[in-house]
Amino acid sequence: MQVKIAPSLLSANFLRLEEDVEMLNSSADLIHLDIMDGSFVPNLSFGFPVMEAVARKAVIPLDAHFMVVNPGDWVKRCAEIGIASMSFHLEAAGGNARSILRDIRAHGMKAGLAINPDVPVEKLYPYIGSADFFLIMSVFAGFGGQKFIYDSLDRIHTLKSRLQEKNDSALIEVDGGVNVGNAAALAEAGADILVAGNAVFKAANPQEVISQLRNPR
Ligand code: DX5
Ligand code: ZN
Repeated sequence: MQVKIAPSLLSANFLRLEEDVEMLNSSADLIHLDIMDGSFVPNLSFGFPVMEAVARKAVIPLDAHFMVVNPGDWVKRCAEIGIASMSFHLEAAGGNARSILRDIRAHGMKAGLAINPDVPVEKLYPYIGSADFFLIMSVFAGFGGQKFIYDSLDRIHTLKSRLQEKNDSALIEVDGGVNVGNAAALAEAGADILVAGNAVFKAANPQEVISQLRNPR
């Protein structure tokens, strides 16, 4: 299966968001929206007013990545504005993770469980069967433009093998420091969806980078 590319709007030019969304409509597979609360991560990003505006222009699916405490509070509103997939962090949800995944699915969205690089990948195993995708962070959540952590390749490979053993069709999304130089290794390790912020939006030709990420050499 060819990897899907989900550019992260966090690195877009917020004064030209409409142009950027239109550019992604014709070149990307998903639009990744990073929601930060200044509590789960030491940074703030944007919230529903921006997400709704993007949703009005987007024709490709919106992928919302919640880096917040109490992620379950936002499921209903995400469904209402037409988010296609919603992920949140196991570290933030703790014992509520399974019920939040169930709630996301019950609202007609794809449910994703995310972990930071310091969480053992095995902690995701109990949720195989309850999630439509797993988001492996390849930098610590909170900021765009960080350096890719190479250990992530092993983590992706380990999770992919486990999913195959279980005959589970959940996808693996990778987020943080993804670029044209590591996309081939990520696809090889088992990544299905690549999130890329800086690599896409800081490029002279973002659409060309999206196509190179999709067909890495
Ligand atoms: C980081 C976010 C990422 C970020 C990726 O906390 O979850 O989605 O925007 O940006 P790059 O690709 O620049 O690392
Ligand atoms: Zn993200």
